Amino acid sequence: MFDLVIRNANLPDGRKGIDIAIAGGRIAAVEPGIAATAGEEIDATGRLVSPPFVDPHFHMDATLSLGIPRLNISGTLLEGIALWGELRPIATKQELVDRALRYCDLAVTQGLLFIRSHVDTSDPRLVTVEAMLEVRDRIRPYIDLQLVAFPQDGYYRARDGVESLSRALDMGVDIVGGIPHFERTMEEGRLSVETLCRIAAERGLPVDMHCDETDDPMSRHIETLAAETVRFGLQGRVAGSHLTSMHSMDNYYVSKLIPLMAEAEINVIPNPLINIMLQGRHDTYPKRRGMTRVRELMAAGLNVSFGHDCVMDPWYSMGSGDMLEVGHMAIHVAQMAGIEDKRKIFDAITVNSARTMGLEGYGLEKGCKADMVILQAADTIEALRLKPGRLAVIKGGKVIARTAPRIGELFLDGRPARIDPGRDYVPGI
Ligand code: FE2
Repeated sequence: MFDLVIRNANLPDGRKGIDIAIAGGRIAAVEPGIAATAGEEIDATGRLVSPPFVDPHFHMDATLSLGIPRLNISGTLLEGIALWGELRPIATKQELVDRALRYCDLAVTQGLLFIRSHVDTSDPRLVTVEAMLEVRDRIRPYIDLQLVAFPQDGYYRARDGVESLSRALDMGVDIVGGIPHFERTMEEGRLSVETLCRIAAERGLPVDMHCDETDDPMSRHIETLAAETVRFGLQGRVAGSHLTSMHSMDNYYVSKLIPLMAEAEINVIPNPLINIMLQGRHDTYPKRRGMTRVRELMAAGLNVSFGHDCVMDPWYSMGSGDMLEVGHMAIHVAQMAGIEDKRKIFDAITVNSARTMGLEGYGLEKGCKADMVILQAADTIEALRLKPGRLAVIKGGKVIARTAPRIGELFLDGRPARIDPGRDYVPGI
């Protein structure tokens, strides 16, 4: 007797017609034709059952603040930072908490149950940190939230930036952040990477830096980050977020850099929606793609995961908490449209992101935590194409969100009356 059995599921690895049995909040069996009865059964009807989506890079303290106190006119990263600097002093803790909780509700309905959020430590009042710590506690029953101490205005460049970041870590923030390309000089950027890696090593914490989020090919802080990772023995526990300057770097230099990143086991976190929106803004034509070298980094064995980064905030006016939208953009901007490419992209918003965040018990194997999503799609490739509804979102063996199937109704003579966008229009691949 199980608590829940999901029948007739397609799995991300391509297996079809699989039953998943759940007992005590864990996956008890994954095989075809499980005979035992259960307290509840769900027929997945040959749809994809995936582990939950995982967002390894987000800004929960800024989300859903679009238009407060004004909109970003130039659309650039730098105006976004300036605008956030206008909003931050007037935002109350309660407002930050309320907006974050609303976003988390949205995330759950999208099957997004694991989020790593940067939290700005630049304002020494640390209202942002207090708010996000409260959010982390309140959403714990349904979303695992990791927090990164993020010196948005520069670790050395902001007044009190050094002390504020330390205090945020003392308050219980989980991860050491940084923004070396935004420090006053290259040298201060380099020094910030070294110092922040030392702090992480001393405190036994992971590192996740905004790194080289610029079109400047000479922004090479990722080299320092990889070298300091090796020096402090932090391999596998350090993430480089964005890395957009790698797009513009010289190929010869990159041929030396990527093996160094592999040696350091850097977790690479591009943010396709934001990068394609914010980068290349100083170009006329041709305009560069603001995306790091995803295909080459994956080929070198690096763990690449994608972040959503922003939803309706000073930097990005779009977004819906849907990691499939992130993957969809990644397919386009990284030009990874092959079948194997798309499977890798799906991994980047699920298993790779889980590895970046160091999640325990994540996956659909026997013994894993009973967290999963049933999608209105047959497989991972169709899911990325359609960005379909999340028919059921399951956490700890319990359904915590449902979305009705999206079925179109036609009123044309001689045509099918009901259209399921996945089932009725598939040419064979
Ligand atoms: Fe970010």
